[in-house]
Order: sequence, then structure tokens, then C-alpha cells
Amino acid sequence: EIDFFFPKQRTLAVIKPDAMEEHKEKILEEIHASGFSVTQLKETVLSREVAEEFYKEHREKPFFGQLVEFMCRGPCMMLLLTKENAVEEWRAMMGPTDPDQAKETSPNSLRARFACDILHNSVHGASNEQHAAEKIRFIFGEICTEAEANSGDGQ
Ligand code: PPS
Repeated sequence: EIDFFFPKQRTLAVIKPDAMEEHKEKILEEIHASGFSVTQLKETVLSREVAEEFYKEHREKPFFGQLVEFMCRGPCMMLLLTKENAVEEWRAMMGPTDPDQAKETSPNSLRARFACDILHNSVHGASNEQHAAEKIRFIFGEICTEAEANSGDGQ
């Protein structure tokens, strides 16, 4: 019998303000049911400065102002998720950025079921491993290093 070893990976997930009131519990339930460990979790209202920094890659986009405004309008839930292939698996669970497209291609995805439009799209996920590491550090700072050291999973 051969045991394959798949290393754990980390990603940053966000439940956005539009989904917090109605869908937070359901989304958390599905995250657990899909085998992710919630290594860190923080509910917070983002300041404009933090939202601008968080989305700095999109600073030049025409929708940047709207995106920052929306992300600050109420509480968000920030999650550090750990699982094999976490970045890709969380993105698959979310579905495409635009919920209209999500309804076509991934009707079971979170955005197909819960999101309203491309701006109010319920959830965010880091797009790759490096982006994940950077955003985890930005949101959770040293807390995550310490907690993970204590949990002994070595990731
Ligand atoms: S891009 O341009 O391909 O990098 O953009 P994308 O990764 O698809 O989306 C970036 C985030 O911007 C939000 N947003 C919009 N994207 C495209 N068009 C419009 N009009 C728009 N409005 C807002 C979109 O929700 C993405 O947010 P995240 O949190 O990354 O899903």
C-alpha cells in the first residue's frame, strides 16, 4: 500500500459585506464540510486604508473606488484556510468572479448561489500561493505564525 503525501497549503478567504447577514453561517458550514481547517478567523469592518492596501493590485482599475467603498460598508469575515491545494480548491468553491458567469459554468458554487453582481460577489480568495502568503501576513500578521507554531502542524 502506498501513502501519497500532499502538503497542506494556506489561502486567504473573505466573506464580503453583502454575504455577511444572510449567508455567513451557510458559507462557514460549507467550508468545514469541504475539509478546510479554519486556522484563523477575524470578523472586522475594514478601514478605507486597509481596503485600499488589500486591493492595491487593482488601484488603476475603473472600479477600484467602488470596490473599496463596498468592502468598507459593513463587517467582513477574514479566514485563513488550510488544506491540500487550498488556493485552487477555495477558488473552485467560490466560482467565477461574475455571478452571471458562475450560474452558467458552476451552478453549485458560492457566487452562483449567493452573489448579486460582479462587485457584490459575496466572497474573495487569493489568486495564487504568493498572493495568499502576502495577504495572510497583511491581515493576520504574526498572530498566524504563533498560532500555527502552537498547533504543531508545521505549515
Ligand atoms: S481582473 O481585472 O481580472 O484582475 O479582475 P478580477 O480578478 O476578475 O476581479 C477583481 C476584483 O474586482 C472586483 N470588481 C470588478 N471586477 C471586474 N469588473 C468590475 N466591474 C468589478 N467591480 C468590482 C471583483 O469583485 C474582484 O474582487 P475579488 O474580491 O478579487 O473577487
